[in-house]
Amino acid sequence: MAFVTRQFVRSVSSSSTASAAAKKIIVKHVTVLGGGLMGAGIAQVAAASGHTVMLVDQTDEILAKSKKGIEESLRKVAKKKFAENPKAGDEFVQKTLSSITTTTDAASVVHSTDLVVEAIVENLKVKNELFQRLDKFAAEHTIFASNTSSLQITSIANATTRQDRFAGLHFFNPVPVMKLVEVIKTPMTSQKTFESLVDFTKALGKHPVSCKDTPGFIVNRLLVPYLMEAIRLYERGDASKEDIDTAMKLGAGYPMGPFELLDYVGLDTTKFIIDGWHEMDSKNPLFQPSQSLNQLVAEKKFGKKTGEGYYKHK
Ligand SMILES: NC(=O)c1ccc[n+]([C@@H]2O[C@H](COP(=O)([O-])OP(=O)(O)OC[C@H]3O[C@@H](n4cnc5c(N)ncnc54)[C@H](O)[C@@H]3O)[C@@H](O)[C@H]2O)c1
Repeated sequence: MAFVTRQFVRSVSSSSTASAAAKKIIVKHVTVLGGGLMGAGIAQVAAASGHTVMLVDQTDEILAKSKKGIEESLRKVAKKKFAENPKAGDEFVQKTLSSITTTTDAASVVHSTDLVVEAIVENLKVKNELFQRLDKFAAEHTIFASNTSSLQITSIANATTRQDRFAGLHFFNPVPVMKLVEVIKTPMTSQKTFESLVDFTKALGKHPVSCKDTPGFIVNRLLVPYLMEAIRLYERGDASKEDIDTAMKLGAGYPMGPFELLDYVGLDTTKFIIDGWHEMDSKNPLFQPSQSLNQLVAEKKFGKKTGEGYYKHK
């Protein structure tokens, strides 16, 4: 089925550029670059919603770990979804896993994919090198998308010759649970690419929102300055971090206070984002660094994942 669809899309793009421009890409086969936290989640939801998935990472060991993580996560989903019918749950897990193939050689697989979703390390040079290389091997119709949280999509797209078929697809952690996907349109992204990605996110059972290629897109642009403002309030001694957390939970109805959330997101991640924005626009008061955040990160206190951040977690 996927083969027929790919052949169809390819023949459309080669025979008639005008009609191809009007037709959206129906994504059936997805290549996910990076089998870490986000890539594994994206591969899982894509496979569970009927797509065939090629998952790529640097070593077979990482890929084996990644696939094991996907299996565990699928078992949790199956337990809830098929509570009354464990056999159907097992079938769902096996069927989904069988739709995911793994490889360490992305260049050899992208010729037959409709969409490449990149979720590798947050480093512009590394992302650019990978996309530049894959651009030469991918099919003409293939859409490239990056899951970057903090880099400009345009600066990644510029490493390729397919800026019109390049966009941002920003998923949220944990991917199988979080409903939102931000679909990021650069000035070069074609309407056809954008609409194809919106359809793809809906096929995953997610809720897409659209945003231009602006720092932080929607969620992080509002969330990170809020977290940084909470840190500044605490650093000035205006209130304790415990009271700030309580205030936002009980007064604003947030499920978590900003310091709890900072420890959950990761202080290293937050510092990385704010440093990147500060470098882009050092005069913006929302993008100013924080002394306590820098200090904690220098001490390798990243929050929940290291056991200590603004709070102790053990
Ligand atoms: N963690 C989050 O909450 C979150 C949320 C949204 C977006 N993102 C973005 O998603 C991307 C991945 O984040 P993550 O948290 O999954 O990172 P991660 O470190 O868990 O996973 C990254 C994976 O990419 C692999 N990798 C690195 N270079 C590679 C290459 N050249 N080819 C193939 N694989 C390669 C690594 O081996 C690793 O398994 C980043 O761009 C990040 O900004 C992260």
